[in-house]
Amino acid sequence: MTRTSDQDLTRRFGTRAVHAGIVADPLAGAVMPPIYQTSTYIQEGLGRHKGFEYARTRNPTREALERNVAALEGGRHGFAFGSGLAALDASLKLLSAGDHVVSGENVYGGTHRQMTHIWARMGMTFTFVDGGDTQQIADAVTPRTKMVYAETPTNPMMRLCDLEATGEIAKQAGALFVVDNTFATPCFQRPLEFGADIVLHSTTKYLNGHSDMVGGLLVTARDDLAERIGFLQNSSGAVPGPFDCWLALRGVKTLGLRMRQHDMSGRCIAEWLTHHPKVERVYYPGLPSHPQHELARRQMSGFGGMISIELGDVERTKRFLERTRIFALAESLGGVESLIGHPASMTHASVPPAMRAAMGLTDSLVRLSVGIEDVEDLQEDIEQALADA
Ligand SMILES: Cc1ncc(COP(=O)(O)O)c(C=O)c1O
Repeated sequence: MTRTSDQDLTRRFGTRAVHAGIVADPLAGAVMPPIYQTSTYIQEGLGRHKGFEYARTRNPTREALERNVAALEGGRHGFAFGSGLAALDASLKLLSAGDHVVSGENVYGGTHRQMTHIWARMGMTFTFVDGGDTQQIADAVTPRTKMVYAETPTNPMMRLCDLEATGEIAKQAGALFVVDNTFATPCFQRPLEFGADIVLHSTTKYLNGHSDMVGGLLVTARDDLAERIGFLQNSSGAVPGPFDCWLALRGVKTLGLRMRQHDMSGRCIAEWLTHHPKVERVYYPGLPSHPQHELARRQMSGFGGMISIELGDVERTKRFLERTRIFALAESLGGVESLIGHPASMTHASVPPAMRAAMGLTDSLVRLSVGIEDVEDLQEDIEQALADA
């Protein structure tokens, strides 16, 4: 099990991103942690080894990533997985049949699918509520509730969960509070500081930032939980390979720089879109018109590059999605390149239509992942695509 060093936790964010978790390379003094592309390690004699026995259990490249992201979140222990959904799988394996989970309804479609199609079949029960409504969360708690699960901002409706208030509800209930921090990243929001027990990431997204690997991560500050998650990581075995860990670690080093650009362009494009005659509604927590803008300012230090827009007409939406030239029509988000997506048929296709409708996730909703290209080019691209739509 990895542990962040005290020294890493005394440093500021940008310094942590570059240095946290990196240990000196004993062989050549390599500045970047080597890719330990090995499945096993030589033992000097029976029971005598350097602490590494088998790569599912421990890998030095993976551990560098785990320590790094744990330090960025202000946690103590990180656990890397083969995808964000594998990290979710491990967090839900902390519970047992009969246990109850209160979850935000507007979570990533794959999160909802895993909960309802796998864990519900295994005997766990779920209540999905508006995660932005603290009272609904409190009302959904039962004596069997063992986890409160939140995504904030949510994908794709950009609703926020009040982290402090929800953390308190979970604590009172004796339930774990798990927060998916994929959209905000620790650059702009650190849920552990607001009472979360576990932070979840799809490292596929902003942490890696270059759309060239798939991965997930859990972070906790609690030693007792770390013991149990470490056991699950090794026993279920959904670990990432060392090369993917290395790619994620390389990406994380520039997280602060990239997030500043995503945020600047995100704010600029969101504001501009509010005045666009072809856009009916803009969902972005950085806009003063966002119903939870004050909460966003309290618990986030930036708003990032994720924006959803309502175009009001399905045919126009299709034309718009197919006409952008810089924004690539693709699943995923958080890379340096701008992406555009249609949540109803792509990321959230597995969410039942009635539930999508109740959340406002219509067939004419478009999600933009604003990259780090020049913002003027991005605006011109949206403009020409909307003009034709
Ligand atoms: C907010 C959020 N959480 C979790 C996931 C799942 O991550 P992965 O695709 O790495 O399994 C995604 C994927 O899009 C996501 O957007």
